[in-house]
Amino acid sequence: MDRIRVPVIAVDGPTASGKGTVAQRVAQQLGWHYLDSGALYRLAALSALRSNTPLSDQQRIAALAAALPCNFNGAAVRLSGVDVTDAIRAEEIGNAASKIAALPAVRQALIGLQLGFRQAPGLVADGRDMGTVIFPGASLKIFLTASVEVRAQRRYKQLIDKGFSANITDLLRDLNERDARDAQRTTAPLKPAEDACLLDTSDLSVDQAVSQVLRWYAQRSD
Ligand code: DC
Repeated sequence: MDRIRVPVIAVDGPTASGKGTVAQRVAQQLGWHYLDSGALYRLAALSALRSNTPLSDQQRIAALAAALPCNFNGAAVRLSGVDVTDAIRAEEIGNAASKIAALPAVRQALIGLQLGFRQAPGLVADGRDMGTVIFPGASLKIFLTASVEVRAQRRYKQLIDKGFSANITDLLRDLNERDARDAQRTTAPLKPAEDACLLDTSDLSVDQAVSQVLRWYAQRSD
């Protein structure tokens, strides 16, 4: 199938809004591919930190991002053949990812890699700018949110489950800082696409959120 005709569901939203879990489940139910675009920014940040590249060095980080030796296999992520599935989930890496994501050359360098995930029979793409920049023609655009307190609790649980230490007060501060940085940057800021369906998951279970997305997809007009 012509790549441009492969259907896309874009799921954007702030950090720890539950979009990863919901987007993966929607992809599973439809039998579609899944793009975790945040993982690409996290991989670029990890590469930068491991090569002692300053996070402000736009050109060097863009070069690293343009040639990321990464490989996705289900939930597992490898960088240069080494399993970094858990390493990229550390808060330090998330915060570094948010910093380098504000650099226009880095965003540009990751576009081709993201477009490459659009493969038949369909793609569920999760991130901040899936519906606004990367896949503006997506069949369905979702903007997933939850209150900052609910997101801090979810992130706390994720980190503890992965064996990292975590503290709710620090997480709340980090989430607020990260939201502000992601929403205020000039290139591809975090914001709902004009035609996005808003979904607040603060009081929804994962099943309820997934069902709502699938209902919207079934009802779409294209
Ligand atoms: O979704 P996440 O927490 O894994 O993303 C990590 C950071 O990457 C996030 O703070 C901002 C950045 N990001 C982005 O700018 N654009 C995307 N499409 C995905 C993530």
